[in-house]
Amino acid sequence: MKQMKSRKGIILAGGTGTRLHPMTISVSKQLMPVYDKPMIYYPLSTLMLTGIKETLIITTPADHEAFKRLLGDGSQWGLNLSFATQDAPRGLPEAFTIGQKWLDGAPSCLVLGDNIFYGKGLGTELRTISSSDNASTIFAYQVKDPERYGVVEMGENGRVLSIEEKPKAPRSKLAITGLYFFDEKAPEFAQNLKPSPRGETEIIELIRCYLNLGSLSVHDLGRGTAWLDTGTPESLLQAANFVEVIEQRQGLKIACPEEIAWRLGYIDRVHLTELAQKFKGNAYGKYLEGLLS
Ligand code: G1P
Repeated sequence: MKQMKSRKGIILAGGTGTRLHPMTISVSKQLMPVYDKPMIYYPLSTLMLTGIKETLIITTPADHEAFKRLLGDGSQWGLNLSFATQDAPRGLPEAFTIGQKWLDGAPSCLVLGDNIFYGKGLGTELRTISSSDNASTIFAYQVKDPERYGVVEMGENGRVLSIEEKPKAPRSKLAITGLYFFDEKAPEFAQNLKPSPRGETEIIELIRCYLNLGSLSVHDLGRGTAWLDTGTPESLLQAANFVEVIEQRQGLKIACPEEIAWRLGYIDRVHLTELAQKFKGNAYGKYLEGLLS
């Protein structure tokens, strides 16, 4: 049966970013640059490409104003952005308890504020999944170091054999990325989770609720897609280098919200011209102007 309400997005951009200290002592990790844009532009673009217009951005109380200053209410990009805070890192599932009222029974797509997705046809794939009847979909991606992530083990015909959070001896190389589609039951499941030994609730346990019901779908992103994480100085630099290489080679930007909004028809030429004016004289502004010519 088709979902009744349209899917809403949540970007979790809280956390202390300790692995990036001292860089992230006074600046939120998700506001750090990834080459030519703030990190949060990337997950926000992922949601835009999924066709989601209404998004809740969850930050620490200290960083709340800075995110608002950057993104506003989203109307400049044809979006509707709301903000909420998480006062301590109590686990990723808390995004759903914080967002429960705001979600108001809608299905959701949670994306972690430091996850970057890029690849041909990704938007189409995400839109198809978003409008499917799946109760939950997670995305798997082969990595060299699965022990750093949630790991999924797959059997025949897409059957999920196991899911584990940061296992010492991973049963597969398939990491679970920070992009999750859930139906309207996620907040209720999240509320009933108990903290793990590290004192936080775990997203893997929320995923397990769906697995136990036999309603977990896993989508393998495959080798043509890039999933980059930005949690350490090395991976942050690698992500920036990746974006720079592609953008310089093609003259096309990755995760440019103005461009996506325009291509999706959320804003018109006049509006895009106005947005370009804000960056007059710099490379970002010239890129936006170039789109119109
Ligand atoms: C979190 C999740 C993990 C997932 C990862 C993706 O880990 O707990 O399952 O694979 O995000 O980025 P964290 O990065 O918070 O340690």
